[in-house]
Amino acid sequence: MAIRVHLPPRFAEPYLAALRQAAPDLPIWLDGDPHDPAQVELLLAWSLTPGLVASLPRLRAVCSIGAGVDKLLAAPDLPPELPVLRVSDPQQNQAIAQYVLACALRHLRELPRYEAQQAQAHWRRHPQRPLAQCRLGLLGQGAVAQAVARAAQALGLPVALWGRGPRPLPPDLAGLRCEHGEAGLARLLADSDVLVCTLPLTPATESLLDRARLSQLPRGAYLIQVGRGEQLVDADLRALLDEGHLAGAALDVYRVEPPPPEHWAWRHPLVFASPHIAGEARHALVAATCLDALRALREGRTPAGVVDRTAGY
Ligand code: GLV
Repeated sequence: MAIRVHLPPRFAEPYLAALRQAAPDLPIWLDGDPHDPAQVELLLAWSLTPGLVASLPRLRAVCSIGAGVDKLLAAPDLPPELPVLRVSDPQQNQAIAQYVLACALRHLRELPRYEAQQAQAHWRRHPQRPLAQCRLGLLGQGAVAQAVARAAQALGLPVALWGRGPRPLPPDLAGLRCEHGEAGLARLLADSDVLVCTLPLTPATESLLDRARLSQLPRGAYLIQVGRGEQLVDADLRALLDEGHLAGAALDVYRVEPPPPEHWAWRHPLVFASPHIAGEARHALVAATCLDALRALREGRTPAGVVDRTAGY
């Protein structure tokens, strides 16, 4: 029995190496390797080529290489009973929190303004707004949002969260303001100087960040998008930046990755654009998740990390 790594060749290598190291006796195949499809028990993938799952008669599960499973769940031929697994890596959540705080501080401490002054050899100090007077609004209340909330709190930056429905937060975050539902979203947006999206992509979050919602942010607010590109209506963001309603945005994810060279975000003076680097799950942890899941499924147990297909994460 075997695992098949269904990833573009430029991404596959580190996962292949991690799986081979963790399970030296298990055949691990890449798409192009000659192999018997009837031997494949688990697929490690980011998205699924149509017809692939149907060609693997003994497939027990599909595992994502990260936290998001939206591309896997979008496969029209994914059998409803096939377990789909996500990887939950606290170190990845930390890395995303570092990225978010780096972007938030870059904006709140006005680094682009001082970089522009430096280019002119211009010495000028501007009044500083204490972090304690700024408000970070977090869309999401899962592990990533929680890591961001902790990092923000440690810097004295007030945080509030928003989620689909009420969900208990860990004791150290239990005192945080947490909003829910459409009315709660409007309240959170109105009170966010920096809005951070950590949401998973689901039908409910697709195009959530449109003109109507982004306009509810206070004038001069800043957007940090580490969720999924499909949650943001790009043209609406651009209009609100150009109209001066929003002060800027940091984008790490896009509807099409990489965005084409002519995409406006590459060159917009108010946009910081990075290539989906906020955080990556450790390859060894991805391999361990696959192997633990395989063991559990062979023993008739439910593996850790199975996503709730109805919720979409
Ligand atoms: C990254 O985007 C992930 O889903 O892990």
